[in-house]
Amino acid sequence: MTGLVGEFATPVAAGEVAEPLLEVTDLRVRFRTRGTVVHAVNGLSYRVHAGRMLAVIGESGSGKSVGSRALMGLLPETAQVSGSARFAGTELIGMPERELRARRGADIAMVFQDPTRSLNPTMRIGAQVAEAVRAHSSLNRRAALDKAVELLGLVRLPAPERRAVEYPHQLSGGMRQRVMIAIALAARPRLLVADEATTALDVTTQAQIMELLVDLQERFGMAVVLISHDLGLAASYAQDVLVMYAGRAVEYAPAQVLFADVRMPYTRALLGAVPQLEREPHSLLPVVPGQPPDLARLPAGCPFRPRCTAADDACGEAPPFTEHEPGHWWACWHADGGEEAR
Ligand SMILES: Nc1ncnc2c1ncn2[C@@H]1O[C@H](COP(=O)(O)OP(=O)(O)OP(=O)(O)O)[C@@H](O)[C@H]1O
Ligand SMILES: [Mg+2]
Repeated sequence: MTGLVGEFATPVAAGEVAEPLLEVTDLRVRFRTRGTVVHAVNGLSYRVHAGRMLAVIGESGSGKSVGSRALMGLLPETAQVSGSARFAGTELIGMPERELRARRGADIAMVFQDPTRSLNPTMRIGAQVAEAVRAHSSLNRRAALDKAVELLGLVRLPAPERRAVEYPHQLSGGMRQRVMIAIALAARPRLLVADEATTALDVTTQAQIMELLVDLQERFGMAVVLISHDLGLAASYAQDVLVMYAGRAVEYAPAQVLFADVRMPYTRALLGAVPQLEREPHSLLPVVPGQPPDLARLPAGCPFRPRCTAADDACGEAPPFTEHEPGHWWACWHADGGEEAR
């Protein structure tokens, strides 16, 4: 296992202010299908730092998955992507597919919600992890299999050597998710994007997977983007939180700042609907009254306006997403007063 540690990025020393590992600026994604244009991501900006976990929260359809997949060229051809996403200084948007494919997994790896769909049911799990290892190294079959067992141990799969020769259906849901994480770690990524990776799991297994992610993040200085419906999960594990609405960032801050000093009425509505956040660490994203806008017919102005109790004429113009206080960004004309908009 020591070999693995050495191959990961160097952890950032405490107190060191590093350049962001990933800097997304004004990312836009639209889908053109049969005469309609769906504006899925509309000027998204955020940063991810090495060794930190960013939770991306927002209701269904807010662009969380599309926004992340766009960084890795994992969108269908109907998607038009613009804006900037710099990973360790290199621009990812517009990068040729070949180059992007080589970087996929090595720089940024993704884990999705449903491991049964991502794993090959006819292949032993050790061989599947080994395949991922070989895709990014020159190891021979035997050495890759040894590395696979090592990775399965790293993600705390019990009895990794014995499990390595089993098939996916012989594993529990939590174990399968650990295998997916092992596959994602095969190329020693500097950023792991977990898209609802624990949503299908029971609360105890979910907590174990989250603790595993935190451990990997701390030991290897890996950055994690946690895409989730679960506000409690964000509050419990993430250092930074990005709240998305209608394909835009509406609030972004370190978790402690955000939960202590919520500014954007949408975030406030989410939190207001979970009054006992600390006592309910795994409550799902609450329902905010009203419907999110139709992304094929986005109205002008603030997209949250029709559902916002603080809305007035000023909201006919879209508020810019700005750093109003150090590290605390929001997009709202009525957030400064705090109490008044409540
Ligand atoms: N291939 C596609 N073609 C057209 N529209 C799409 C496509 N993929 C996604 N969309 C639309 O883009 C918007 C954002 O979708 P996305 O999957 O990013 O939402 P999400 O925030 O991840 O939601 P969830 O929480 O349900 O996973 C949605 O309106 C969705 O319908
Ligand atoms: Mg999604």
